[in-house]
Amino acid sequence: LLHTGGDRDLVGKQVLISTGGTREHLDPVRFIGNPATGKMGIALAIAAMDRGAKVTLVHAPITGEIPTGIRAISVVSAAEMRSAMLSSFPEADLIVMAAAVADVKPAEYFPEKLPKKSLPNSLPLVAVPDILAELGQLKQPHQKLIGFAAQTGDIVKPALQKLKEKKLNAIAANPIDLPNVGFGSDCNQAILLDDRGREKIIEPCSKLQLAHYLFDFVNS
Ligand code: CTP
Ligand code: CA
Repeated sequence: LLHTGGDRDLVGKQVLISTGGTREHLDPVRFIGNPATGKMGIALAIAAMDRGAKVTLVHAPITGEIPTGIRAISVVSAAEMRSAMLSSFPEADLIVMAAAVADVKPAEYFPEKLPKKSLPNSLPLVAVPDILAELGQLKQPHQKLIGFAAQTGDIVKPALQKLKEKKLNAIAANPIDLPNVGFGSDCNQAILLDDRGREKIIEPCSKLQLAHYLFDFVNS
């Protein structure tokens, strides 16, 4: 199983990638978030650039460095990520949502820090927009839209459902309940699925290798 890292099959293409974990603040110091570090999306950005693409990386808070040559747009919340993705989307040929988007946000935002004594016992939540599903509705025939599905347990069935419901061309289903892969790791593994019914198992490898496998998959 060899990936074609080094091929210049994305020359002249615009690639739009999201990464990191979005944050939904309750007040300036407290938020709903997740353990994503942005490493998978940075690896995708590097792989796409190596293959000749012009790359835009919309990132929620991340821990890694973004290499020069990548146009980076920094966001915090899902709403900010949505508008950044929507404004770069029309020019993009290939779009990959690797971000871990918080699914809900506190119903109310308090612009001043709440003293702990006045924190509520329960927190009313509201849903945030599903960015990928919205892009799926806007997608033009020349555009390829790719999602990620981080899952525990059975990874294929829910990923296939997301592929269909969000009108994606492909999805990378990756386990987050196995040792050494997923959030924060330099290593990942996945099952790549597409709208043509193809399925490709990617054994544990570096996130950069997985990025190349994914581009190989969608370009073949
Ligand atoms: N996604 C998104 N906007 C959201 C939630 C998810 O764009 N508000 C994208 C993610 O970036 C990912 C894909 O949708 O590419 C699947 O995310 P996932 O969390 O696995 O699926 P959800 O549809 O949110 O469903 P659930 O969390 O219930 O599994
Ligand atoms: Ca989710």
